[in-house]
Amino acid sequence: MLRVLFVCLGNICRSPTAEGIFSHKVAAAGLAGRIESDSAGTSAWHAGEAPDGRAQEEAERRGIDIGRQRSRAVVSSDFEAFDLILAMDSENLRELKSRCPQDLQGKLHRLLDYAPQGEHRDVPDPYYGGPQGFARVFDMIDDACDGLLAAVRRDHLG
Ligand code: 4NP
Repeated sequence: MLRVLFVCLGNICRSPTAEGIFSHKVAAAGLAGRIESDSAGTSAWHAGEAPDGRAQEEAERRGIDIGRQRSRAVVSSDFEAFDLILAMDSENLRELKSRCPQDLQGKLHRLLDYAPQGEHRDVPDPYYGGPQGFARVFDMIDDACDGLLAAVRRDHLG
């Protein structure tokens, strides 16, 4: 089993969206038995909460249910438990690098480094903006998850 963890700041907007999109693609590809995913936040500010209503609505509009996810903070055992740990932005990546043991740092990447078009490196934080921000974030994550799944199939599943 390959384990993938998506990480943002609050674990209520971007990373639950990424987990929902990625697991949907994994299931559609018939790989649910080979790839597992989860999401977490570098902060515990929203621990125990469901995803932001705006993120849930945008996902729902695209046919993906993220409503059963609950926010949790990244814990040190995540660096062992997961094979790939994908930060939504450079700040999240910097935070993960500061906590991750040196020999496991190769697991850390930015999600958008897998995006087919490399225009953006960071998924912008949509929390303080309007609903269009959530639609844009969904599109960026959706593209990157296509690239991620292709890379995982090539590099990890053989
Ligand atoms: P996320 O968005 O990191 O994509 O879940 C945020 C959610 C909450 C806050 C910031 C970003 N906050 O400041 O509470």
